[in-house]
Amino acid sequence: MRKIYLVGFMGCGKSAIGRRLSYFLRLPYYDMDHEIVRQQGMSIPEIFEVYGEAYFRALETEFLLNFRDEACIIATGGGVAMSEENRKIMRHSGLVLFLDATFEDIYVRIKNDKNRPIVQRSTKEELEQLYQTRRKFYRAANHIRVLTEGRSLRQIVEYIGFQVNRLKGE
Ligand code: S3P
Repeated sequence: MRKIYLVGFMGCGKSAIGRRLSYFLRLPYYDMDHEIVRQQGMSIPEIFEVYGEAYFRALETEFLLNFRDEACIIATGGGVAMSEENRKIMRHSGLVLFLDATFEDIYVRIKNDKNRPIVQRSTKEELEQLYQTRRKFYRAANHIRVLTEGRSLRQIVEYIGFQVNRLKGE
């Protein structure tokens, strides 16, 4: 069976939805950022600070290439779908779901987050600009787009579970 990748901007709900989906579909769940932090023994802000963003991006691609070959749910980092290589790897090894949240919802969740270097170094306007630019790439990556506005976590998880089971039956 294939992997299920959750993509989308920071704060769109990838981790919260991934964890619940894991119970719903009875599949293991992994958070890419956590795996990278564990492998490197450094926090994300430390990796950015010491080695730079390009190094972190290379770690993300390495993770996608080498992560264990099992059916599972993976919450990706918000920048993962920007690379064409990453998009190809994900589309070939699994089902890619784009969690499409509004910038207003996202901003409330991320604005005070010290663990996200891109939030730390950007103004609200810059983040909104980045959000607009990145949506095209999430859409280029996704097999299924999931609109999250006005839906509870439970509704989103049930919707995804239904779509995944439908595709399995095809
Ligand atoms: C990033 C998003 C973060 C993390 C890093 C860079 C980005 O993940 O990978 O801070 O470029 O959008 P989340 O989307 O889980 O916050």
